[in-house]
Amino acid sequence: MSNFDETETIYVRELGIDDIAPIYHLGEGLFTSDLYPYLYRTWDEWEVIGLYNTDPEYCLVAETDGELAGFILGTIITKASWTYGYILWLGVSPRFQRRGVADKLVDKVVARMIEDGARFMLVDTDPTNTSALKFFNRKGFGNIRQHIFLSMNLSKHEYYGRLIDYEHQKAERAGYRRSRPTIRSRKPDSVANEVVLNPLVNESQTTDDQSPI
Ligand SMILES: CC(C)(COP(=O)(O)OP(=O)(O)OC[C@H]1O[C@@H](n2cnc3c(N)ncnc32)[C@H](O)[C@@H]1OP(=O)(O)O)[C@@H](O)C(=O)NCCC(=O)NCCS
Repeated sequence: MSNFDETETIYVRELGIDDIAPIYHLGEGLFTSDLYPYLYRTWDEWEVIGLYNTDPEYCLVAETDGELAGFILGTIITKASWTYGYILWLGVSPRFQRRGVADKLVDKVVARMIEDGARFMLVDTDPTNTSALKFFNRKGFGNIRQHIFLSMNLSKHEYYGRLIDYEHQKAERAGYRRSRPTIRSRKPDSVANEVVLNPLVNESQTTDDQSPI
C-alpha cells in the first residue's frame, strides 16, 4: 500500500546532473531481467547520460518534496518531411504509481515535441508489459505492431565461439606485453629513454613465447 499523500504536488522539470544516478537506479528496479529482458539488457547509465547530453529538452523528471517520483527520456527523429517524437524510457517509482505521474511526464514531453515540430509519436515496450500498454493506449497510442528480437549466445556458437577463444588468447598475450615496462624502467637511463621514445619498435621485438614476469 502506498503512503503517498494525495495532497503532495508533483513537479515536472528538466533533468539535472544530480538526477542521473537516482534515475539510473530507479530504472534498474523497474526494468528487471525477469519481467522485461530486453529493457533490462538495454538499460544502463549511458542511456541516461547520453540522452541528457544529446536531448536535455526531452529528459524530464517528476518530483515531490525533492523526492524522485518518475522520469521520461525521449528524442526527436526527423525523416524526410516528418518529425517523430520518440519516448525511449518512462519510469515511475512504485510508491508513486497510479497517481498520474506518467500522465504528466508524457503530456509535458509531447508538448515540447509538438513545439519542435513533431506530428507523430513513437514508443515501444515489452509485449507483456500490460501496465505500460494500458497506460499508452489510454494516452492515445495505438496501431500496435510487434517487432521480433532474436538473440544468440556467441560463446556457444561453433565459429564465433572460436573467435572468442582467439580474442581471449590475444588479450592474454597483450597482458604479458603490458607487464614488460616494469622491467624496462629498471634498465639504465639511456636505454629506458630509448624505449619511451620508440615504444613500437620495442613492442615488436617482444615475442609471444617470452614468459611474463
Ligand atoms: C507504466 C508506468 C510508467 C505508468 O506510470 P503511472 O504514473 O503509474 O501511470 P498513471 O498514474 O499516469 O496512469 C494513468 C493510467 O494508465 C493506466 N495504468 C497505469 N498503470 C497501470 C497498471 N499497473 N495497470 C493497469 N492500468 C494502468 C490506467 O489507465 C491509469 O489510469 P487509472 O489509474 O485512472 O486507472 C509505470 O507503471 C511504470 O513505471 N512501469 C514500469 C516501467 C515501464 O514499464 N515503463 C514503460 C516502458 S519504457
